[in-house]
Amino acid sequence: TTSRRYQFNVEWKTITRLCSTKPILTVNGEYPGPTIAVNEGDNLEIKVTNGVSLNTTIHWHGIKQLRTGWADGPAYVTQCPITPGQSYTYKFSVSGQRGTLWWHAHIAWQRATIYGAIIIYPRMPYPFAAPVDAEIPIIFGEWWNLPVEGIEDLMNKYGDGPNSSDAYTINGLPGPLYPCSVEDTFIQTVEHNKIYMLRIINAALNDELFFSIASHTLTVVEIDAAYTKPFDTEAIMITPGQTVTVLLNTNHHTSSDGFFAMAARPYLSSVFPFDNSTTIGFLKYKHTSSPMPKASNVVLPPQLPRMEDHAYATKFVSQLRSLGTLKYPCKVPKKIDKRVVITVGLNLQDCPANQTCKGFEGKRFSASMNNQSFVRPLTSILEWHYRNYSSTKYSHDFPLNPPHVFNYTGVDPLKYNLNPTFGTKLFAVEYGTKLEIVLQDTGLMNLENHPIHIHGHNFFIVATGFGNFDPKKDTARYNLVDPPERNTVGVPMGGWAAVRINADNPGVWFMHCHLEEHTTWGLAAGFIVKNGVKPSQRLLPPPSDLPRC
Ligand code: C2O
Repeated sequence: TTSRRYQFNVEWKTITRLCSTKPILTVNGEYPGPTIAVNEGDNLEIKVTNGVSLNTTIHWHGIKQLRTGWADGPAYVTQCPITPGQSYTYKFSVSGQRGTLWWHAHIAWQRATIYGAIIIYPRMPYPFAAPVDAEIPIIFGEWWNLPVEGIEDLMNKYGDGPNSSDAYTINGLPGPLYPCSVEDTFIQTVEHNKIYMLRIINAALNDELFFSIASHTLTVVEIDAAYTKPFDTEAIMITPGQTVTVLLNTNHHTSSDGFFAMAARPYLSSVFPFDNSTTIGFLKYKHTSSPMPKASNVVLPPQLPRMEDHAYATKFVSQLRSLGTLKYPCKVPKKIDKRVVITVGLNLQDCPANQTCKGFEGKRFSASMNNQSFVRPLTSILEWHYRNYSSTKYSHDFPLNPPHVFNYTGVDPLKYNLNPTFGTKLFAVEYGTKLEIVLQDTGLMNLENHPIHIHGHNFFIVATGFGNFDPKKDTARYNLVDPPERNTVGVPMGGWAAVRINADNPGVWFMHCHLEEHTTWGLAAGFIVKNGVKPSQRLLPPPSDLPRC
Protein backbone atom coordinates (compact mmCIF):
# COMPACT_ATOMS: atom_id res chain seq x y z
CA THR A 1 0.00 0.00 0.00
CA THR A 2 1.02 3.55 -0.71
CA SER A 3 1.03 6.26 1.91
CA ARG A 4 -0.01 9.72 0.86
CA ARG A 5 0.67 12.77 2.95
CA TYR A 6 -1.06 16.12 2.76
CA GLN A 7 -0.67 19.35 4.67
CA PHE A 8 -3.90 21.30 5.20
CA ASN A 9 -3.46 24.77 6.64
CA VAL A 10 -6.71 26.33 7.75
CA GLU A 11 -6.29 30.03 7.01
CA TRP A 12 -8.17 33.17 6.07
CA LYS A 13 -8.09 34.31 2.48
CA THR A 14 -9.67 37.49 1.19
CA ILE A 15 -11.74 36.92 -1.91
CA THR A 16 -14.37 38.74 -3.92
CA ARG A 17 -17.64 37.39 -5.24
CA LEU A 18 -20.70 39.36 -6.39
CA CYS A 19 -18.57 42.50 -5.88
CA SER A 20 -18.39 41.80 -2.18
CA THR A 21 -14.93 41.32 -0.70
CA LYS A 22 -14.38 39.49 2.58
CA PRO A 23 -12.01 37.11 4.27
CA ILE A 24 -13.19 33.50 4.11
CA LEU A 25 -11.90 30.39 5.83
CA THR A 26 -9.97 28.17 3.44
CA VAL A 27 -7.57 25.26 3.32
CA ASN A 28 -4.21 26.43 1.92
CA GLY A 29 -5.85 29.61 0.62
CA GLU A 30 -7.85 27.68 -1.99
CA TYR A 31 -11.59 28.00 -2.61
CA PRO A 32 -12.86 25.37 -3.17
CA GLY A 33 -10.12 23.55 -1.31
CA PRO A 34 -7.50 21.16 -2.70
CA THR A 35 -8.59 17.91 -4.35
CA ILE A 36 -7.43 14.69 -2.73
CA ALA A 37 -6.87 12.11 -5.48
CA VAL A 38 -5.78 8.66 -4.31
CA ASN A 39 -5.98 5.00 -5.25
CA GLU A 40 -8.28 2.50 -3.60
CA GLY A 41 -6.36 0.95 -0.70
CA ASP A 42 -4.01 3.89 -0.08
CA ASN A 43 -3.15 5.07 3.42
CA LEU A 44 -3.72 8.77 3.98
CA GLU A 45 -2.12 11.09 6.48
CA ILE A 46 -3.53 14.59 6.39
CA LYS A 47 -2.02 17.02 8.83
CA VAL A 48 -4.45 19.82 9.57
CA THR A 49 -2.91 22.91 11.13
CA ASN A 50 -5.28 25.48 12.53
CA GLY A 51 -3.95 28.92 11.63
CA VAL A 52 -7.03 30.91 12.62
CA SER A 53 -8.52 32.00 15.91
CA LEU A 54 -11.56 29.71 15.66
CA ASN A 55 -11.76 26.02 16.53
CA THR A 56 -11.94 23.72 13.53
CA THR A 57 -12.23 20.06 12.41
CA ILE A 58 -12.31 18.32 9.02
CA HIS A 59 -14.59 15.41 8.04
CA TRP A 60 -13.89 13.02 5.15
CA HIS A 61 -17.45 12.66 3.99
CA GLY A 62 -18.30 9.10 2.97
CA ILE A 63 -14.96 7.55 3.92
CA LYS A 64 -15.93 4.63 6.13
CA GLN A 65 -13.06 5.03 8.61
CA LEU A 66 -13.00 1.33 9.36
CA ARG A 67 -11.73 1.09 12.98
CA THR A 68 -10.32 4.63 12.69
CA GLY A 69 -13.26 6.65 13.99
CA TRP A 70 -10.71 9.03 15.55
CA ALA A 71 -10.16 10.44 12.06
CA ASP A 72 -13.84 10.94 11.19
CA GLY A 73 -13.98 14.58 12.21
CA PRO A 74 -17.40 15.72 13.51
CA ALA A 75 -16.68 18.12 16.37
CA TYR A 76 -17.70 16.84 19.81
CA VAL A 77 -18.69 13.45 18.40
CA THR A 78 -15.41 11.76 17.42
CA GLN A 79 -13.00 14.47 18.50
CA CYS A 80 -12.51 17.71 20.34
CA PRO A 81 -11.88 20.59 17.95
CA ILE A 82 -8.41 21.51 16.75
CA THR A 83 -7.81 24.70 18.69
CA PRO A 84 -6.04 27.77 17.27
CA GLY A 85 -2.37 27.06 16.58
CA GLN A 86 -2.79 23.31 17.08
CA SER A 87 -2.38 20.50 14.53
CA TYR A 88 -3.98 17.09 14.21
CA THR A 89 -3.07 14.41 11.68
CA TYR A 90 -6.02 12.46 10.32
CA LYS A 91 -4.81 8.92 9.51
CA PHE A 92 -7.01 6.48 7.65
CA SER A 93 -7.07 4.22 4.65
CA VAL A 94 -9.46 4.12 1.73
CA SER A 95 -10.17 0.49 1.05
CA GLY A 96 -13.26 -1.08 -0.44
CA GLN A 97 -14.42 2.27 -1.80
CA ARG A 98 -13.84 3.95 -5.16
CA GLY A 99 -15.39 6.96 -6.77
CA THR A 100 -16.27 10.50 -5.82
CA LEU A 101 -16.44 11.70 -2.23
CA TRP A 102 -15.54 14.98 -0.57
CA TRP A 103 -14.20 16.58 2.57
CA HIS A 104 -15.47 19.53 4.59
CA ALA A 105 -15.12 21.30 7.91
CA HIS A 106 -17.46 19.78 10.51
CA ILE A 107 -18.00 22.52 13.04
CA ALA A 108 -20.34 25.52 13.09
CA TRP A 109 -20.96 26.65 9.51
CA GLN A 110 -17.33 26.45 8.40
CA ARG A 111 -18.13 24.01 5.65
CA ALA A 112 -19.62 26.95 3.72
CA THR A 113 -16.11 27.66 2.45
CA ILE A 114 -13.92 24.79 3.72
CA TYR A 115 -14.60 21.92 1.32
CA GLY A 116 -13.03 20.00 -1.54
CA ALA A 117 -13.23 16.83 -3.62
CA ILE A 118 -11.93 13.35 -2.78
CA ILE A 119 -11.37 11.12 -5.79
CA ILE A 120 -10.59 7.45 -5.27
CA TYR A 121 -9.36 5.67 -8.40
CA PRO A 122 -10.41 2.02 -8.56
CA ARG A 123 -8.07 -0.97 -8.43
CA MET A 124 -10.20 -2.82 -10.94
CA PRO A 125 -11.34 -1.46 -14.30
CA TYR A 126 -14.61 0.45 -14.35
CA PRO A 127 -17.63 -1.85 -14.61
CA PHE A 128 -18.97 0.21 -17.52
CA ALA A 129 -17.55 -0.05 -21.00
CA ALA A 130 -16.43 3.50 -21.63
CA PRO A 131 -12.89 4.72 -21.90
CA VAL A 132 -12.81 7.96 -19.92
CA ASP A 133 -10.77 10.60 -21.71
CA ALA A 134 -10.75 13.22 -18.96
CA GLU A 135 -12.35 14.08 -15.64
CA ILE A 136 -14.15 17.24 -14.61
CA PRO A 137 -14.92 17.92 -10.94
CA ILE A 138 -18.12 19.92 -10.43
CA ILE A 139 -18.68 21.09 -6.86
CA PHE A 140 -21.79 23.06 -5.98
CA GLY A 141 -21.66 25.52 -3.11
CA GLU A 142 -23.33 28.60 -1.74
CA TRP A 143 -21.93 32.08 -1.31
CA TRP A 144 -22.93 34.57 1.39
CA ASN A 145 -21.93 38.20 1.09
CA LEU A 146 -21.96 38.44 4.87
CA PRO A 147 -19.71 36.30 7.10
CA VAL A 148 -21.08 32.79 7.69
CA GLU A 149 -18.95 31.92 10.70
CA GLY A 150 -21.35 33.59 13.11
CA ILE A 151 -24.62 32.19 11.72
CA GLU A 152 -24.81 29.23 14.08
CA ASP A 153 -24.38 31.36 17.18
CA LEU A 154 -27.08 33.76 16.01
CA MET A 155 -29.47 30.92 15.29
CA ASN A 156 -28.84 29.45 18.73
CA LYS A 157 -29.44 32.81 20.32
CA TYR A 158 -32.69 33.71 18.58
CA GLY A 159 -34.03 30.33 17.52
CA ASP A 160 -34.54 31.54 13.98
CA GLY A 161 -33.32 30.50 10.56
CA PRO A 162 -30.43 31.88 8.54
CA ASN A 163 -30.76 34.24 5.62
CA SER A 164 -30.64 32.44 2.34
CA SER A 165 -27.29 32.60 0.60
CA ASP A 166 -26.63 35.22 -2.08
CA ALA A 167 -25.66 32.79 -4.84
CA TYR A 168 -25.18 29.17 -5.72
CA THR A 169 -21.77 28.37 -7.14
CA ILE A 170 -20.09 25.88 -9.45
CA ASN A 171 -16.51 25.28 -8.32
CA GLY A 172 -16.73 28.44 -6.23
CA LEU A 173 -18.02 30.58 -9.13
CA PRO A 174 -21.57 32.02 -9.29
CA GLY A 175 -21.73 32.60 -13.05
CA PRO A 176 -23.15 35.45 -15.15
CA LEU A 177 -26.77 35.33 -14.00
CA TYR A 178 -25.73 36.94 -10.69
CA PRO A 179 -24.81 40.59 -10.33
CA CYS A 180 -21.19 41.41 -11.01
CA SER A 181 -20.17 37.81 -11.76
CA VAL A 182 -19.38 37.54 -15.48
CA GLU A 183 -15.70 37.12 -14.64
CA ASP A 184 -16.54 34.51 -12.04
CA THR A 185 -17.91 31.88 -14.40
CA PHE A 186 -16.76 28.26 -14.58
CA ILE A 187 -15.79 27.42 -18.16
CA GLN A 188 -14.69 23.92 -19.09
CA THR A 189 -13.10 23.45 -22.49
CA VAL A 190 -13.99 20.14 -24.16
CA GLU A 191 -13.21 18.42 -27.43
CA HIS A 192 -15.71 16.61 -29.58
CA ASN A 193 -15.92 12.84 -29.72
CA LYS A 194 -14.65 12.30 -26.20
CA ILE A 195 -16.03 10.84 -23.01
CA TYR A 196 -15.74 12.97 -19.89
CA MET A 197 -16.37 11.85 -16.35
CA LEU A 198 -18.10 14.56 -14.32
CA ARG A 199 -17.61 14.11 -10.61
CA ILE A 200 -20.52 16.10 -9.17
CA ILE A 201 -20.59 17.01 -5.49
CA ASN A 202 -23.27 18.97 -3.67
CA ALA A 203 -21.42 20.93 -1.00
CA ALA A 204 -24.22 23.52 -0.71
CA LEU A 205 -25.36 24.05 2.86
CA ASN A 206 -29.11 24.05 2.63
CA ASP A 207 -30.31 23.23 -0.85
CA GLU A 208 -31.00 20.19 -2.93
CA LEU A 209 -30.21 20.95 -6.53
CA PHE A 210 -31.20 20.00 -10.05
CA PHE A 211 -28.40 20.05 -12.62
CA SER A 212 -28.23 19.63 -16.35
CA ILE A 213 -26.22 20.66 -19.41
CA ALA A 214 -27.86 22.11 -22.52
CA SER A 215 -27.96 19.69 -25.49
CA HIS A 216 -26.16 16.91 -23.61
CA THR A 217 -27.27 13.69 -21.99
CA LEU A 218 -25.71 12.51 -18.75
CA THR A 219 -25.06 8.84 -17.98
CA VAL A 220 -25.11 8.13 -14.25
CA VAL A 221 -22.51 5.50 -13.27
CA GLU A 222 -21.78 6.04 -9.59
CA ILE A 223 -23.25 7.72 -6.49
CA ASP A 224 -21.56 8.32 -3.13
CA ALA A 225 -18.56 6.19 -4.22
CA ALA A 226 -20.69 3.15 -5.10
CA TYR A 227 -21.28 2.08 -8.70
CA THR A 228 -24.75 2.12 -10.20
CA LYS A 229 -26.26 0.40 -13.18
CA PRO A 230 -25.67 3.07 -15.83
CA PHE A 231 -28.68 5.04 -17.05
CA ASP A 232 -29.14 8.10 -19.20
CA THR A 233 -30.81 11.20 -17.86
CA GLU A 234 -31.43 14.78 -18.94
CA ALA A 235 -30.89 16.11 -15.42
CA ILE A 236 -29.89 14.96 -11.96
CA MET A 237 -31.19 15.73 -8.47
CA ILE A 238 -28.56 15.86 -5.75
CA THR A 239 -28.94 16.63 -2.04
CA PRO A 240 -26.30 18.28 0.10
CA GLY A 241 -23.85 15.54 1.08
CA GLN A 242 -24.40 13.43 -2.02
CA THR A 243 -22.16 12.88 -5.02
CA VAL A 244 -23.18 11.74 -8.50
CA THR A 245 -20.65 10.69 -11.12
CA VAL A 246 -21.83 10.91 -14.72
CA LEU A 247 -20.35 10.34 -18.15
CA LEU A 248 -20.73 12.97 -20.83
CA ASN A 249 -20.26 12.03 -24.46
CA THR A 250 -19.35 14.86 -26.82
CA ASN A 251 -19.88 12.89 -30.04
CA HIS A 252 -23.07 14.76 -31.00
CA HIS A 253 -21.19 17.98 -31.46
CA THR A 254 -18.38 19.31 -33.60
CA SER A 255 -15.29 20.92 -32.20
CA SER A 256 -16.48 24.41 -33.11
CA ASP A 257 -19.97 24.01 -31.67
CA GLY A 258 -19.76 26.85 -29.16
CA PHE A 259 -20.83 27.30 -25.56
CA PHE A 260 -23.38 25.15 -23.72
CA ALA A 261 -24.72 26.22 -20.35
CA MET A 262 -24.50 23.87 -17.40
CA ALA A 263 -26.92 24.95 -14.72
CA ALA A 264 -27.91 24.15 -11.15
CA ARG A 265 -31.00 25.45 -9.39
CA PRO A 266 -32.76 24.35 -6.20
CA TYR A 267 -35.24 21.51 -6.08
CA LEU A 268 -36.64 23.10 -2.96
CA SER A 269 -35.10 25.41 -0.48
CA SER A 270 -34.96 24.93 3.24
CA VAL A 271 -34.43 28.59 3.97
CA PHE A 272 -36.80 31.52 3.82
CA PRO A 273 -37.08 33.60 1.72
CA PHE A 274 -36.68 30.94 -0.90
CA ASP A 275 -33.95 31.46 -3.42
CA ASN A 276 -34.78 30.04 -6.82
CA SER A 277 -31.80 31.58 -8.58
CA THR A 278 -29.59 29.61 -10.95
CA THR A 279 -25.84 29.17 -11.12
CA ILE A 280 -24.39 28.47 -14.52
CA GLY A 281 -21.09 27.58 -16.08
CA PHE A 282 -20.24 26.55 -19.64
CA LEU A 283 -18.89 23.71 -21.67
CA LYS A 284 -16.85 25.37 -24.36
CA TYR A 285 -16.03 23.37 -27.48
CA LYS A 286 -12.37 23.83 -28.16
CA HIS A 287 -12.37 25.45 -31.58
CA THR A 288 -15.33 27.69 -31.12
CA SER A 289 -14.71 31.24 -32.24
CA SER A 290 -17.70 32.95 -30.63
CA PRO A 291 -17.26 34.69 -27.26
CA MET A 292 -18.98 33.57 -24.06
CA PRO A 293 -22.68 34.46 -24.29
CA LYS A 294 -23.83 37.55 -22.41
CA ALA A 295 -26.12 36.99 -19.45
CA SER A 296 -29.10 38.16 -21.52
CA ASN A 297 -28.29 35.61 -24.26
CA VAL A 298 -27.68 32.58 -22.10
CA VAL A 299 -29.84 29.65 -23.14
CA LEU A 300 -30.60 27.63 -20.02
CA PRO A 301 -30.85 23.89 -20.53
CA PRO A 302 -34.54 23.45 -21.42
CA GLN A 303 -34.56 20.10 -19.63
CA LEU A 304 -33.52 21.64 -16.30
CA PRO A 305 -36.46 20.83 -13.98
CA ARG A 306 -38.35 23.69 -12.37
CA MET A 307 -38.22 24.29 -8.64
CA GLU A 308 -40.60 21.88 -6.85
CA ASP A 309 -40.68 19.38 -9.68
CA HIS A 310 -41.44 16.51 -7.31
CA ALA A 311 -42.28 14.15 -10.13
CA TYR A 312 -38.88 14.62 -11.75
CA ALA A 313 -37.02 14.24 -8.46
CA THR A 314 -38.90 11.06 -7.59
CA LYS A 315 -38.36 9.59 -11.03
CA PHE A 316 -34.64 10.35 -10.96
CA VAL A 317 -34.10 8.76 -7.55
CA SER A 318 -36.14 5.68 -8.46
CA GLN A 319 -33.75 4.90 -11.33
CA LEU A 320 -30.75 4.47 -9.04
CA ARG A 321 -29.70 0.84 -8.68
CA SER A 322 -26.50 -0.67 -7.35
CA LEU A 323 -24.72 -3.17 -9.58
CA GLY A 324 -25.64 -6.34 -7.78
CA THR A 325 -23.35 -8.38 -10.02
CA LEU A 326 -20.97 -11.23 -9.31
CA LYS A 327 -17.96 -8.95 -9.50
CA TYR A 328 -19.57 -6.36 -7.24
CA PRO A 329 -22.04 -8.38 -5.16
CA CYS A 330 -24.63 -6.36 -3.33
CA LYS A 331 -23.92 -6.63 0.39
CA VAL A 332 -27.40 -5.60 1.51
CA PRO A 333 -28.43 -7.54 4.63
CA LYS A 334 -31.19 -9.91 3.53
CA LYS A 335 -32.36 -10.45 7.11
CA ILE A 336 -32.13 -7.93 9.90
CA ASP A 337 -31.41 -8.20 13.62
CA LYS A 338 -32.95 -4.89 14.58
CA ARG A 339 -35.25 -2.24 13.14
CA VAL A 340 -35.12 1.30 14.48
CA VAL A 341 -37.82 3.75 13.38
CA ILE A 342 -36.75 7.37 13.59
CA THR A 343 -38.86 10.41 12.86
CA VAL A 344 -37.08 13.36 11.33
CA GLY A 345 -38.74 16.72 11.63
CA LEU A 346 -38.90 20.31 12.68
CA ASN A 347 -40.43 21.75 15.84
CA LEU A 348 -41.54 25.05 17.31
CA GLN A 349 -40.66 25.84 20.91
CA ASP A 350 -42.23 28.40 23.17
CA CYS A 351 -39.84 31.23 23.85
CA PRO A 352 -38.22 31.08 27.31
CA ALA A 353 -39.19 34.06 29.46
CA ASN A 354 -35.80 35.76 29.47
CA GLN A 355 -35.13 35.40 25.72
CA THR A 356 -35.95 37.11 22.46
CA CYS A 357 -37.04 34.57 19.88
CA LYS A 358 -37.19 35.30 16.19
CA GLY A 359 -38.51 32.03 14.83
CA PHE A 360 -42.10 31.75 13.59
CA GLU A 361 -44.67 33.75 15.62
CA GLY A 362 -42.15 34.70 18.30
CA LYS A 363 -41.20 31.08 18.99
CA ARG A 364 -37.95 29.18 18.51
CA PHE A 365 -37.32 26.69 15.73
CA SER A 366 -35.74 23.40 16.63
CA ALA A 367 -35.49 20.01 14.95
CA SER A 368 -35.32 16.47 16.21
CA MET A 369 -35.08 12.74 15.64
CA ASN A 370 -37.71 10.78 17.56
CA ASN A 371 -38.41 14.04 19.33
CA GLN A 372 -34.86 14.24 20.69
CA SER A 373 -33.11 17.41 19.68
CA PHE A 374 -29.39 16.64 19.64
CA VAL A 375 -27.06 18.75 21.73
CA ARG A 376 -23.33 18.34 21.16
CA PRO A 377 -21.53 17.93 24.46
CA LEU A 378 -18.29 19.88 24.87
CA THR A 379 -16.23 16.71 24.71
CA SER A 380 -15.45 13.82 22.38
CA ILE A 381 -18.18 11.18 22.78
CA LEU A 382 -15.93 8.64 21.06
CA GLU A 383 -13.20 9.16 23.64
CA TRP A 384 -15.61 8.84 26.57
CA HIS A 385 -16.95 5.67 25.01
CA TYR A 386 -13.46 4.25 24.37
CA ARG A 387 -12.22 5.00 27.88
CA ASN A 388 -15.41 3.64 29.39
CA TYR A 389 -15.99 6.77 31.43
CA SER A 390 -19.25 6.53 33.28
CA SER A 391 -20.99 9.09 31.26
CA THR A 392 -22.62 12.25 32.39
CA LYS A 393 -22.04 13.68 28.90
CA TYR A 394 -24.31 11.41 26.91
CA SER A 395 -26.64 8.48 27.42
CA HIS A 396 -27.55 5.28 25.61
CA ASP A 397 -31.30 5.64 25.72
CA PHE A 398 -32.15 7.10 22.33
CA PRO A 399 -35.72 5.87 21.72
CA LEU A 400 -35.91 3.12 19.09
CA ASN A 401 -39.42 4.12 18.08
CA PRO A 402 -41.20 7.43 17.63
CA PRO A 403 -43.07 8.83 20.62
CA HIS A 404 -46.13 9.59 18.48
CA VAL A 405 -47.76 7.89 15.58
CA PHE A 406 -47.66 10.33 12.73
CA ASN A 407 -50.64 10.86 10.57
CA TYR A 408 -50.56 13.55 7.97
CA THR A 409 -54.26 14.08 7.70
CA GLY A 410 -55.70 16.79 9.82
CA VAL A 411 -52.43 18.00 11.33
CA ASP A 412 -51.95 21.74 11.50
CA PRO A 413 -48.18 21.92 11.55
CA LEU A 414 -48.10 25.34 13.11
CA LYS A 415 -50.20 24.28 16.08
CA TYR A 416 -48.52 20.93 16.48
CA ASN A 417 -45.65 21.77 18.76
CA LEU A 418 -43.76 18.62 19.59
CA ASN A 419 -41.71 20.17 22.39
CA PRO A 420 -38.70 17.95 21.81
CA THR A 421 -36.36 16.94 24.58
CA PHE A 422 -32.90 18.45 24.32
CA GLY A 423 -29.97 16.19 25.10
CA THR A 424 -27.28 13.83 23.88
CA LYS A 425 -28.85 10.43 23.42
CA LEU A 426 -27.41 7.61 21.35
CA PHE A 427 -28.28 3.97 20.85
CA ALA A 428 -25.83 1.10 20.86
CA VAL A 429 -25.71 -2.04 18.74
CA GLU A 430 -23.52 -5.13 18.89
CA TYR A 431 -20.72 -5.53 16.37
CA GLY A 432 -22.06 -7.08 13.17
CA THR A 433 -25.68 -6.14 13.75
CA LYS A 434 -27.75 -6.13 10.59
CA LEU A 435 -29.49 -2.90 11.26
CA GLU A 436 -32.49 -1.38 9.56
CA ILE A 437 -33.26 2.27 10.09
CA VAL A 438 -36.58 3.64 8.88
CA LEU A 439 -36.46 7.40 8.60
CA GLN A 440 -39.94 8.87 8.78
CA ASP A 441 -40.49 12.50 7.88
CA THR A 442 -43.04 14.16 10.15
CA GLY A 443 -44.02 16.64 7.47
CA LEU A 444 -44.31 19.40 10.02
CA MET A 445 -43.32 22.80 8.62
CA ASN A 446 -40.81 21.08 6.37
CA LEU A 447 -40.64 22.01 2.72
CA GLU A 448 -38.13 19.58 1.31
CA ASN A 449 -36.52 16.20 1.63
CA HIS A 450 -34.27 15.75 4.61
CA PRO A 451 -30.90 14.46 3.35
CA ILE A 452 -29.95 12.18 6.22
CA HIS A 453 -26.25 11.31 6.32
CA ILE A 454 -24.81 8.46 8.38
CA HIS A 455 -21.14 8.41 9.30
CA GLY A 456 -18.93 5.31 9.35
CA HIS A 457 -21.03 3.13 7.06
CA ASN A 458 -22.66 3.05 3.70
CA PHE A 459 -26.25 1.90 3.69
CA PHE A 460 -28.60 0.36 1.19
CA ILE A 461 -31.83 2.20 0.47
CA VAL A 462 -34.22 -0.74 0.30
CA ALA A 463 -37.35 1.38 -0.16
CA THR A 464 -38.80 4.85 0.03
CA GLY A 465 -42.45 5.85 0.10
CA PHE A 466 -44.96 8.55 0.87
CA GLY A 467 -47.19 8.81 3.94
CA ASN A 468 -46.58 6.70 7.02
CA PHE A 469 -44.25 3.72 6.96
CA ASP A 470 -46.29 0.56 7.42
CA PRO A 471 -44.08 -2.37 8.51
CA LYS A 472 -46.54 -4.96 7.17
CA LYS A 473 -47.26 -3.52 3.75
CA ASP A 474 -44.07 -1.70 2.96
CA THR A 475 -41.52 -4.39 3.78
CA ALA A 476 -43.10 -6.57 1.09
CA ARG A 477 -41.76 -4.33 -1.62
CA TYR A 478 -38.20 -3.94 -0.34
CA ASN A 479 -35.51 -4.19 -3.00
CA LEU A 480 -32.97 -6.69 -1.63
CA VAL A 481 -31.40 -7.36 -5.03
CA ASP A 482 -29.88 -4.11 -6.26
CA PRO A 483 -30.84 -1.29 -3.86
CA PRO A 484 -28.74 1.88 -4.26
CA GLU A 485 -25.82 2.15 -1.84
CA ARG A 486 -25.15 5.60 -0.41
CA ASN A 487 -24.08 7.54 2.64
CA THR A 488 -26.82 10.21 2.35
CA VAL A 489 -30.49 9.58 1.60
CA GLY A 490 -33.09 12.18 0.76
CA VAL A 491 -36.04 11.21 2.96
CA PRO A 492 -39.03 12.21 0.82
CA MET A 493 -41.04 15.13 2.12
CA GLY A 494 -44.12 13.64 3.76
CA GLY A 495 -42.69 10.15 3.38
CA TRP A 496 -40.05 7.72 4.58
CA ALA A 497 -36.91 5.86 3.59
CA ALA A 498 -35.80 2.44 4.84
CA VAL A 499 -32.05 1.80 4.87
CA ARG A 500 -30.07 -1.30 5.84
CA ILE A 501 -26.60 -1.23 7.36
CA ASN A 502 -23.99 -3.85 8.19
CA ALA A 503 -22.90 -2.37 11.51
CA ASP A 504 -19.36 -3.67 11.21
CA ASN A 505 -17.41 -0.55 12.12
CA PRO A 506 -16.84 -0.18 15.87
CA GLY A 507 -17.09 3.39 17.10
CA VAL A 508 -19.45 6.30 17.62
CA TRP A 509 -21.21 7.49 14.49
CA PHE A 510 -23.03 10.72 13.88
CA MET A 511 -26.26 10.66 11.91
CA HIS A 512 -27.76 13.95 10.85
CA CYS A 513 -29.61 16.02 8.32
CA HIS A 514 -27.08 17.46 5.87
CA LEU A 515 -29.02 20.73 5.67
CA GLU A 516 -26.80 22.83 7.89
CA GLU A 517 -29.77 24.78 9.14
CA HIS A 518 -31.40 21.59 10.43
CA THR A 519 -28.20 20.23 12.01
CA THR A 520 -27.90 23.48 13.94
CA TRP A 521 -31.48 23.06 15.18
CA GLY A 522 -30.66 19.55 16.42
CA LEU A 523 -31.78 17.21 13.62
CA ALA A 524 -29.19 14.63 14.59
CA ALA A 525 -28.50 11.58 16.71
CA GLY A 526 -25.75 9.02 16.94
CA PHE A 527 -25.19 5.35 17.40
CA ILE A 528 -22.47 3.26 18.91
CA VAL A 529 -21.20 0.06 17.32
CA LYS A 530 -19.59 -1.99 20.07
CA ASN A 531 -16.30 -3.80 19.61
CA GLY A 532 -16.43 -7.34 18.26
CA VAL A 533 -14.61 -10.25 19.85
CA LYS A 534 -11.77 -10.58 17.35
CA PRO A 535 -8.92 -8.06 17.49
CA SER A 536 -9.72 -7.09 13.90
CA GLN A 537 -13.21 -6.09 15.05
CA ARG A 538 -12.09 -3.53 17.56
CA LEU A 539 -11.67 0.22 17.39
CA LEU A 540 -7.97 1.11 17.20
CA PRO A 541 -6.47 3.13 20.07
CA PRO A 542 -6.58 6.93 19.75
CA PRO A 543 -3.64 8.69 18.12
CA SER A 544 -1.35 10.57 20.49
CA ASP A 545 -2.04 13.97 18.94
CA LEU A 546 -5.83 13.67 19.36
CA PRO A 547 -7.08 17.13 20.39
CA ARG A 548 -8.26 17.60 23.99
CA CYS A 549 -11.23 19.57 25.19
CU1 C2O B 1 -20.83 15.68 5.35
CU2 C2O B 1 -21.56 14.81 9.23
O1 C2O B 1 -21.19 15.29 7.29
